[in-house]
Amino acid sequence: MRTYRVAIVGTGGIAAVHADNLTRTNGRAELVAACDVDQGRLDAFAEKHSIPGMYLSLADLLAEAKPDIVHLCTPPMFHIGQAIECLEAGVHVLSEKPPALSLADFDRLETAQAKGGAQFSCVFQHRFGDAAAAARRLIGGGDFGRPLVARCDTLWYRPDSYWELPWRGTWEAEGGGPTMGHGIHQFDLLLHLLGPWEEITAIASRQARPTSTEDLSAALVRFSNGAVATIINSLLSPRETSDIRIDCEFATVELSHLYGYSTDNWTITAAPGHEDQVGTAWNGEPLDQGSGHAAQFLAMYGALDAGRPLPAGADSARQTLEFAAALYASAFTGKSVHRGEIVTGHPFYGGMDGEGLGAKVLEETAFNLTALKATSV
Ligand SMILES: NC(=O)c1ccc[n+]([C@@H]2O[C@H](COP(=O)([O-])OP(=O)(O)OC[C@H]3O[C@@H](n4cnc5c(N)ncnc54)[C@H](O)[C@@H]3O)[C@@H](O)[C@H]2O)c1
Repeated sequence: MRTYRVAIVGTGGIAAVHADNLTRTNGRAELVAACDVDQGRLDAFAEKHSIPGMYLSLADLLAEAKPDIVHLCTPPMFHIGQAIECLEAGVHVLSEKPPALSLADFDRLETAQAKGGAQFSCVFQHRFGDAAAAARRLIGGGDFGRPLVARCDTLWYRPDSYWELPWRGTWEAEGGGPTMGHGIHQFDLLLHLLGPWEEITAIASRQARPTSTEDLSAALVRFSNGAVATIINSLLSPRETSDIRIDCEFATVELSHLYGYSTDNWTITAAPGHEDQVGTAWNGEPLDQGSGHAAQFLAMYGALDAGRPLPAGADSARQTLEFAAALYASAFTGKSVHRGEIVTGHPFYGGMDGEGLGAKVLEETAFNLTALKATSV
C-alpha cells in the first residue's frame, strides 16, 4: 500500500473539508501542494494545513509538484478544463461535483483519459461508507425483495444573500440550480442504490430566489427494475432535510440526514412477517465505516493500489450527469425523456438549459415577487 501525493486546486470552503479528511486516511495521502488564483486565500490555506507547495497556476503545480492525484475544489465552471489538463499530464483527478456543466463537455474526458493514462473520479461521497454498500447489496436481493416505490428529497434552505456571489445562480458558471448543485448528491445515491433509470418527467421552476436558474425541481422517474421514484430538489425549505426512502417487497430502507450521514441515520423497517429475515440480513452486514469524503478517498486509493477502475469514475459520474440533463430536458420541453435520448445534436447535450430554452421557460413561469409586492397592502 503506497502513500499518494495529493494536491488541492481551489482553496475555498470545500477544500478545507478535503484537507481535514485527508488526515483521516491512515497515512495513505500526503498533501504536497495547493493552488488558487487568490494569493491571500492560498497562503492562509497552505499555512493552516502545513502544505509545502503553493501555486497560482495549475500548469506550474503539475510540472513542479508532481502529484499522483489532484482534487478539484474550484467553482463548477472550471472543473472540466482543469480535469482535462491534469489527465493529459497523466495525473488522476478527483473532481468536486458537478463533474461538468454539460454532457458535451463531460465527453471530452474520454480522450484526455486515454491520452494520459490517468483516471477521473467525481466526489459523490454519499455513495461511500458501509451502510450505503450494505443497502446496495440488499435492495433487490432475496431478503429485502424488489424495490417498488421510492422518494428522494433534498429540501434545503438558502437565503437571498447566498446568490450575492457573482457566479452563483447562473447557467454559465453552475450549469443549473439545486438540481446540479445540491440535490445531485442525493439522487446520485438513489441511482447508485436503484440502478439504471428508464424514463423521467419533471418540472423545474423559480419560486422565490434571486437566481437565473431554477430554485426548485421535482421529478417522477421509472427505473429499469420497475421501481417508481419521486425526487425533489429545493432551496426553499426552512426545515432542511435530505431523505431517501425505498420501499422494497419485504423492507423499507430509509436514510435521513442533512449534509452527511453515519450508519445511525439509516432505518430499516421489515414488512409484517419478514422481521427475522430483514433484521438478520441488515445486522449481518459490516456497518462500521461512516460515509463522507475520507471514505471515498480510501476507496480511491484501494482501487489505485489494485489497478482497478476508480469508484465514482467517469462512467457512473456520466450517468448522474445524464440524469440531471434529462430532468432539465423534461422540465423545459414538457415531455418525458428516456435514458440514452440526449446525444450529440440534442439541445440538452450541449448545456443544461437547452440552448436558452430553460432560461425562457423559467422567466415565463417565475413566481412574480415584484408584482406581488406591488399589489400587497
Ligand atoms: N461535495 C460536497 O459536499 C460539496 C460541498 C460544497 C461545495 N462543493 C463543490 O465544491 C466546489 C467549490 O465550492 P466552494 O464552496 O468551496 O467554493 P469557494 O468559492 O469557497 O472556493 C473556490 C476556490 O477556488 C478558487 N478558484 C477560482 N478559480 C480558480 C482557478 N481557475 N484556479 C484555482 N483556483 C480557483 C477561488 O479563489 C476559491 O478560493 C463547487 O463545485 C461546489 O459545488 C461540494
